[in-house]
Amino acid sequence: MPIKNRFAELLPEITAWRRDFHEHPELLYDVHRTAGRVAELLREFGCDEVTEGVGRTGVVAVIRGKTDSKGRVIGLRADMDALPIHEQTGAEYASKTPGKMHACGHDGHTAMLLGAAKYLAETRNFDGTAIMIFQPAEEGGAGGDAMVKDGLVDRWGIQEFYGMHNMPGMPVGSFAIKPGAMMAAADQFDITVTGKGGHAAKPHECIDTTLAAAQIIVALQSVVARNVDPLQNAVISVCVVSTDSTAHNVIPQVVKLKGTARSLDAEVRAQLEEGITRVATNIAAAMGATAAVDYQRGYPVTSNDTEATEWAAAVARAISDRVDMDMVPMMGGEDFSYMLNERPGAYIWVGNGDTAMVHHPAYDFNDEAIPAGSSWYAGMVESRMPAA
Ligand code: NI
Repeated sequence: MPIKNRFAELLPEITAWRRDFHEHPELLYDVHRTAGRVAELLREFGCDEVTEGVGRTGVVAVIRGKTDSKGRVIGLRADMDALPIHEQTGAEYASKTPGKMHACGHDGHTAMLLGAAKYLAETRNFDGTAIMIFQPAEEGGAGGDAMVKDGLVDRWGIQEFYGMHNMPGMPVGSFAIKPGAMMAAADQFDITVTGKGGHAAKPHECIDTTLAAAQIIVALQSVVARNVDPLQNAVISVCVVSTDSTAHNVIPQVVKLKGTARSLDAEVRAQLEEGITRVATNIAAAMGATAAVDYQRGYPVTSNDTEATEWAAAVARAISDRVDMDMVPMMGGEDFSYMLNERPGAYIWVGNGDTAMVHHPAYDFNDEAIPAGSSWYAGMVESRMPAA
């Protein structure tokens, strides 16, 4: 199964969909235009069922194979949302909305899955049921979780999930995948350090919250360096420091810290949660202040099932001779993880070539990756549910 010839024929059409989505980026759950266009196209293709409004603004389409009655049910997933970034690509199809852009290539993912849907609805060269899933709010809104909570798995009887993301820096149309953790659990924390504000020239009459917060920021790295097994992976980044003082000569009453904690393993994740809380509260106490820690668990680890990974890699190898199985996981988060927590499946990267990194204002999805991406989606259906 090399790149399917049909996708070479469909490339101009799929590219046109992609560029239309690119011109009209929408954020989080507010993907009404995109979802509407996706549903319209899926109906035009002759999908057997198209359901809108799943997980608020997600779209689900059913394509039955030649004989579907008792066959397997496979879910293919793409994300539809853009980012609050001001585009700087200069592309002729650049975002028409200042401050919003498709800087993560979800326009490409959506177009590639639409291409696969068109092909699968035309050919139906499989036995079983293919479910096309278009989700909102991947960028921090847990749209994948919203679709799962709206009954995605049970309403459509999905037994396996497959998802894809483009990756800059990998050759166009190449693939990378591994069993186990691909992407990190992405948690966040808020630490409120409270002391006693006052005149900066009279520190002995205050409890200095900025000094306590500074010690906490430094000591938090000891959780990664000294508590987590050095052969495991963890990140703690403090990203926001704010106080209630705006003056050079006022010690603030309160200092707030915000940050993120990333891990690839449930045990490490628990260590980060416990460690951040322990270090912050006790360092604050040592300085005579208090620290309140609010640790919020976000997207879980995106973890590939071993057998599903083998299937996914085999389909990729049939398309490309560059399939990297020794890839290093990324500490970014991905809310396809919520679907993979429900059923086995796999998540794969497809090369975007030598472009700016995702979430950069000069990033653009590479349309040359479309034939490989659409072929992989369609190939997963045909290989997991071969026609008799
Ligand atoms: Ni993304």
